[in-house]
Amino acid sequence: MTHRGENTPEVRAVIVVGARPNFMKAAPVIHAMAARGGFSPRLVHTGQHYDEKMSEVFFRELEMPAPDVNLGVGSGSHGAQTAQIMMRFEPVVAESRPDIVLVVGDVNSTVACSLVAVKLGVRVGHVEAGLRSGDRSMPEELNRIVTDAVSDLLFTTEAGANANLLREGRPAGAIHLVGNTMIDTLLRCRARAERSPVLERLGLGAEPRPYAVLTLHRPSTVDEPQVLEAVLDALHEVARALPVVFPIHPRTARQLAAAGLGRHLVALAEGQAAGPAGLYAVPPMGYLDFLKLMSRARLVLTDSGGIQEETTILGVPCLTLRDNTERPATIEHGTNVLVGRDPARIIEESRRALARPPGAPPGPPLWDGQAAERIVDVLARVL
Ligand code: UD1
Repeated sequence: MTHRGENTPEVRAVIVVGARPNFMKAAPVIHAMAARGGFSPRLVHTGQHYDEKMSEVFFRELEMPAPDVNLGVGSGSHGAQTAQIMMRFEPVVAESRPDIVLVVGDVNSTVACSLVAVKLGVRVGHVEAGLRSGDRSMPEELNRIVTDAVSDLLFTTEAGANANLLREGRPAGAIHLVGNTMIDTLLRCRARAERSPVLERLGLGAEPRPYAVLTLHRPSTVDEPQVLEAVLDALHEVARALPVVFPIHPRTARQLAAAGLGRHLVALAEGQAAGPAGLYAVPPMGYLDFLKLMSRARLVLTDSGGIQEETTILGVPCLTLRDNTERPATIEHGTNVLVGRDPARIIEESRRALARPPGAPPGPPLWDGQAAERIVDVLARVL
């Protein structure tokens, strides 16, 4: 481990965030840079997500500094959004000439900013490199492939990611298995999340009773009305056995309204308690409330990537409503089961999961809360 001395110039790092899952992945790197010293980090928010509940709340709860720059791109088609991010990020990099641009995850902001930086001759580090679902119809898969192809430093969360990168011809010396910064955030915030009153607010806390948590936001689940309806029918069936709390992503809210599928859900107003059964729609939650909600759930059903990882560490059974996962370590070392979107299978696997006593598998190697420190160690060594 090398430490920069007084006469060594600080490493000038630009850290990019854009969409909700990026904040949990970037926050520990920012904290680790501050704790170690020798870094001059600049935080750029692309503005891909902009609602208070999709963005600001995470800055507050994760104790992140306000962004130095907000590109304010907002929503748009993939082409338009990616292009806007590139156009607005280019002058930021050209003017500040950082030593490194760090991107996280697999959203449009990740790929857009990595391309801009590498074309300006600035080194790129990708946090959460090498994950592959093998499904190129997922926009995130394309973002991952392109980002990893142009990144100089590839920070991976699980051993399979190293193998994927080597198979794609990336040099072994560029790949660093460091663990999972999203889990750094989870472990750092767990005690604070315990104090969240979310269960009492939902009527699930005073007399603890089993409940499930559902999240859906992937285009492959929510953008096709027939698929969404079939999945909701199945979840309605699952919700006959226990209350299912469903914090609704804005994309999903829009699709539910457009397809007239609101009848499947009971909208839970502020202060209203969930009953003994039913599918309860609530607004998107902040990080601490959602972490508390997940940590006490009897079952989580999701099409998210990050939630597969968080439930793995929380030891909460997770059914992933997808045909593939880019995070196989959550199956191998965790609680995750791939169930696809076939209604009969969702119902059957939910019954099976609820009948099994919950257990906490050990979790993947290096998911120990120290991933960001390892990243900062590598940066201090190579830059
Ligand atoms: C994006 C990421 C996805 C990630 C997800 C987490 C890409 C390609 N997708 O998907 O990988 O899992 O974020 O949430 O980058 N909207 C709002 N308020 C906001 C943001 C979005 O209302 O603050 C609405 C808009 O109608 C927008 C839609 O949600 O058109 C989709 O947002 P977008 O960022 O394009 O994709 P996500 O589905 O959020």
